[in-house]
Amino acid sequence: MSETLKYKETYSIFSPCSREEREKNFLSYWDFSQRHAGELLEDDKDLSRKREKLRDFQNQPVRSRAPLPDPEIFYRNCVTWHDDPKTVDKVTLMLTCIYKFARHEWVGISGAWDATPPMAQCQSVEDKISRVHLAEEFSHIRLFHKMLRTFHLDKVEWVPPGPLMQAVYRTFPRLPGFLMDAPAFVTELMGMVFYQHLDRLFDELLREKEPEACQRLHQLLHEIMVDELAHVGQRRNFIGPVGIKLSKWMIAPLFKVFFSDIPEARLLFDIDQMIDDARRFDYSTVPAEMVKESWLPSYCMEGLQ
Ligand SMILES: [Fe+2]
Ligand SMILES: [Fe+2]
Repeated sequence: MSETLKYKETYSIFSPCSREEREKNFLSYWDFSQRHAGELLEDDKDLSRKREKLRDFQNQPVRSRAPLPDPEIFYRNCVTWHDDPKTVDKVTLMLTCIYKFARHEWVGISGAWDATPPMAQCQSVEDKISRVHLAEEFSHIRLFHKMLRTFHLDKVEWVPPGPLMQAVYRTFPRLPGFLMDAPAFVTELMGMVFYQHLDRLFDELLREKEPEACQRLHQLLHEIMVDELAHVGQRRNFIGPVGIKLSKWMIAPLFKVFFSDIPEARLLFDIDQMIDDARRFDYSTVPAEMVKESWLPSYCMEGLQ
């Protein structure tokens, strides 16, 4: 662990905790969330500080030195593969993978946004947290969009899902907490681990040939990861002892089902390694600066250094 991390020790995300600790942690997260994300702009599904950061990126656009070898390959395959992914260059594969991952996210949060009460009707701190959490997720889609534009992909559209996928994502957020909390937590954990692997892939594929684009992708992903790291802890905080066992058990099947819908993921990443990383996840695997910008539950860390 880096020396700059201010906590003596960090523990597994699956560490046990009491109900009282969870209640305190919701309040501490809500405090953090308001400072971190700013004011909720509900009509725009946005947040004031997220909007400022997006503007900063827009004011200093970065484009890759070379466009993709054939951008039409991206447009033809970003929703479903029509070509053989094995014949496609890795940068294009990475971008279709990002699109597919983000599209799942977009469909999921759109269903959840309609199912959660608007801020004015939120009764509990958990409801308020969930509303702001979703607005943050919408801001991530805007950042993913920027990643694609960095590679001159200016015609990207977020294609609505088919009826089956729509029905799944619309039903999920309406399930009672005891059914929904464990998979919602594992989904956040999957996002965080996927981004850790994606962050390394940027360097592998782009550092030499596209240093500016590589750096911009890291910056955009960093913005997303700080939020996702906080979401991992926040969603963990919804779960009691039974749910935490269930979550651990659910990691492998959930990762496998999710990535089976993104065939290029197997060509870019070691999915089994991702599953292992998720099972062993603690905050020492994340850069200390990122942990400092983000939030973690009190029962996953020990004291101040
Ligand atoms: Fe997300
Ligand atoms: Fe998230």
